Amino acid sequence: MIMKNAEILFLNNRTMRELGSGDIQAGMADVKRIYSLFNYKNERGEKVEKLTIPDKVVLRFGKGNQSEYTDGRINAMPGRVHDDDLNFAGIKWIGSGVHNYELGYPRANAVVILNDPYTKLPICIADGTEVSATRTGASGGIAVELLARKDASVLTICGAGVQGRTQLKAAVIARPGIKEVGIYDKFPANAQAYVDEMSKQYPQISFHTISEDDLGENVAKSDIVITASTAEHPFIKAEWVTKGTLLANISGEEMERGCVLKADKTVVDFWQSVKHRNSSTIARMVNDPEGGHQDFVPTAEIGEIINGQKPGRENDEEIIYYNPVGAGVLDMIIVHRCYETAVREGKGQKLIFWEGDE
Ligand SMILES: NC(=O)c1ccc[n+]([C@@H]2O[C@H](COP(=O)([O-])OP(=O)(O)OC[C@H]3O[C@@H](n4cnc5c(N)ncnc54)[C@H](O)[C@@H]3O)[C@@H](O)[C@H]2O)c1
Repeated sequence: MIMKNAEILFLNNRTMRELGSGDIQAGMADVKRIYSLFNYKNERGEKVEKLTIPDKVVLRFGKGNQSEYTDGRINAMPGRVHDDDLNFAGIKWIGSGVHNYELGYPRANAVVILNDPYTKLPICIADGTEVSATRTGASGGIAVELLARKDASVLTICGAGVQGRTQLKAAVIARPGIKEVGIYDKFPANAQAYVDEMSKQYPQISFHTISEDDLGENVAKSDIVITASTAEHPFIKAEWVTKGTLLANISGEEMERGCVLKADKTVVDFWQSVKHRNSSTIARMVNDPEGGHQDFVPTAEIGEIINGQKPGRENDEEIIYYNPVGAGVLDMIIVHRCYETAVREGKGQKLIFWEGDE
């Protein structure tokens, strides 16, 4: 048998950016599509599997969850999408190098591999760093669209890093009426840099930094509170949370467990994955054998709300807690879109992965 060459298209961070890896609006459409496929039901109301999302594998460099904050980790997130006109498989491999900023590299850095669903050969290796920030911002933006008050105008963001920026971008797309944004960070210089940068991008919004002492007051007056930090311990108190607030717990356990219990509705993206990853407040709460909440079940997965199977926000009084854990397929759908554009426009570097006999 004569073997043929097999090529991989390599797309680095700059090429990915040219191809739209940072396009939050497009990312929101992509992420919404994946969420809706997860909870897809046919006309007879039967669940149809269109996504395969194995549990994340967490490669730790120390012992236990908390070591991720000091020693970092690399997560493997494989997945497959098999819908009529959307068919791909692959893996996201995302590292968290906790000292990388000092070295001039991004903390979170990701590579995404797409495989051909028929041959299973790798067809694309792409930088997924911006993609990861875009899809997580998009996930927050979708929650703001479906779960925040329609008249939401005050937003608090905890964590002035990469995600703190994409969360803002997506939130403003979902609620253009946002007028005031407070940013809290353990390092005030990060919060100030965020204010300086974002004030230029969004001149219609009034930005301010929040100190530890002012955090309670700011949470209390916010319509939306987003946590996107690398904090190791909870710092948002349930007693601060007022009626009508959307609490979007994008990262770890920044919110006290009481925030989840106080919520009228709790919404996640993929419940099985949230519990398995065990990093967010809701996950730690149900996984704690001493906590007394092991049977707790969230009100909805977000795909059920997108597909109209369950309601989103029903009035201006509800407190809603949201936690997305993410999945590799969310990154892959964006990389797949960029890959198709690259093939059409002849962008990226072709590498011969398998040299045949030709
Ligand atoms: N849910 C998801 O799908 C998803 C996806 C990607 C990232 N994340 C998580 O989002 C978080 C933020 O990621 P990033 O890329 O923006 O990180 P980053 O390193 O760019 O920024 C993190 C920010 O948090 C701040 N911070 C650290 N400790 C804090 C504390 N105690 N209080 C307030 N601020 C504190 C840091 O100073 C920094 O500015 C990470 O925990 C990451 O794991 C979640």
